[in-house]
Amino acid sequence: MNTLLNRRSIRRYKEDQVPDELLDQVLTAGLYAPTGMNRQNIVMVAVRDKETRDQLSRMNAAVMGADRDPFYGAPCVIVVLGDPEIYPVVENGSLVLGNLMNAAYAVGLGSCWIHRAKQTFETEEGKALLRKWGLKENLVGIGNCILGYPDEEPQARPRLEGRIVKI
Ligand SMILES: Cc1cc2nc3c(=O)[nH]c(=O)nc-3n(C[C@H](O)[C@H](O)[C@H](O)COP(=O)(O)O)c2cc1C
Repeated sequence: MNTLLNRRSIRRYKEDQVPDELLDQVLTAGLYAPTGMNRQNIVMVAVRDKETRDQLSRMNAAVMGADRDPFYGAPCVIVVLGDPEIYPVVENGSLVLGNLMNAAYAVGLGSCWIHRAKQTFETEEGKALLRKWGLKENLVGIGNCILGYPDEEPQARPRLEGRIVKI
């Protein structure tokens, strides 16, 4: 409950890179997310190489027509992709992203879901990256989980009323 209630989306990061031992724990949490009929059709690409990280940031910004860094300076990004030939994709991928973000908090890292992975990997440049990574080029982008050491402590916003019905 501590993790689930206190994890927040982090949008300011220190420069320090995420070390292997923490990255591996976060990735393992993603690997163990439930998938419909245990199809395990979700792939995670962990990017710490600055050139690739910056390329993904630029492609993501281009989807919005912006030129800021949509990854908020985070040194690491885990791209979550799904095989569209195996149903369901978005639901399974979203649970993986949830596990990644909660695990990140649990090991002392900050994280945030950054959208527009779908559009990023629909482009020729995106498909070229998938090929370069040895993946099928029809994979669908679900989301990006940025990771790093947090440089802010945002508070949770109040919960909207009326979202629980108990019968
Ligand atoms: C599907 C989804 C897409 C999101 N996309 C972005 C995004 O592109 N950029 C961003 O800064 N935050 C993004 N977020 C983070 C939300 O803004 C954040 O979860 C929300 O404001 C609640 O804050 P909290 O995570 O700290 O509880 C996304 C979250 C979800 C679940």
